[in-house]
Formats: sequence, C-alpha cells, structure tokens
Amino acid sequence: MNTLDQLVYCSRSQLAPDEEAAAMADIVHVAAFLNARNGITGALALQDGVFVQCLEGSPTALDILMLHLHFDERHEEIEIVARGRIERRAFPAWGMTAPTLGRCDALSRLITQRSDDLIAWRDAMSALLTEPA
Ligand SMILES: Cc1cc2nc3c(=O)[nH]c(=O)nc-3n(C[C@H](O)[C@H](O)[C@H](O)COP(=O)(O)O)c2cc1C
Repeated sequence: MNTLDQLVYCSRSQLAPDEEAAAMADIVHVAAFLNARNGITGALALQDGVFVQCLEGSPTALDILMLHLHFDERHEEIEIVARGRIERRAFPAWGMTAPTLGRCDALSRLITQRSDDLIAWRDAMSALLTEPA
C-alpha cells in the first residue's frame, strides 16, 4: 500500500487584508491543479493573519511542496506543527479547498498553542469546511 502522510503547518500571511480574498482564490486555483498532479489533497484556512494548511500525500510529495512553499512571498515563518502517518485521507475530494468564510474558535486556539495534535487540527479544519454559509 502506498504510504500516506498528513501534515499541518502555520505561516504568517504577508497579505494586506484587502488582498486576502483574491490571493486565497488564486492559491486554491493553482494548488488544485498542481496538487492533483502530485497526489496531494488538503485544506487551507487564513485566520488572524495566519495561514493554516493541512496537506496529505506521499511523504516525498509533501517534502517537495514544503520546499516550494518557502519561496512564496505571500507568507513567511512557515512552521510544521504536526505531522504523522495516516491510513486514509481526511480531504479526499479536494486538490485544495478553502472555506470562503468564517472563523473557528477551535482553530484560533490551536494556532495560539501551535498544537502538535494532528487530529485536533484536522477536526477544526473539517468543521470550518462543513459550516453552513
Ligand atoms: C499559504 C499558501 C499555500 C499554498 N498551497 C499550495 C499547495 O497546496 N499546492 C501548490 O502547488 N501550491 C501551493 N501554494 C503556491 C505555491 O507557493 C506556488 O506558488 C505554486 O506551487 C506554483 O509554483 P511556481 O510559482 O514555482 O510555479 C501555496 C501558497 C501559499 C502562500
């Protein structure tokens, strides 16, 4: 069976507030295409000036993407807070998806703590995605 890893990183957004919506749309658009090619799925949120991205795929594909992300000037201070082996994907339907709205208190707490609890991050990201608009 193919090995699957999941990781969560936080990074500090370098975007002005009025650039955020367009930049998120751009990132998700590009990522959906490239991630599908690389067997990566996941979810992205931007809250309190912090990007949180959950990525899942082969360990090598994730390592390569993380290298690319370091060159992207839309964010800095990238910190992998949690990483682990998984049996199945939590976000199988998406090359990359992002909630169009909303804040999530659970996610805010995790960001503040820089928690290493992979399941807590995954649950908070999932909750944000399934919130009714
Ligand atoms: C917060 C954030 C998350 C991103 N997530 C992804 C991603 O999941 N997949 C991806 O291919 N690019 C992602 N990107 C975009 C990459 O940094 C990069 O622009 C893209 O891979 C195109 O690479 P290139 O400019 O070298 O062609 C993300 C960028 C930011 C700022």
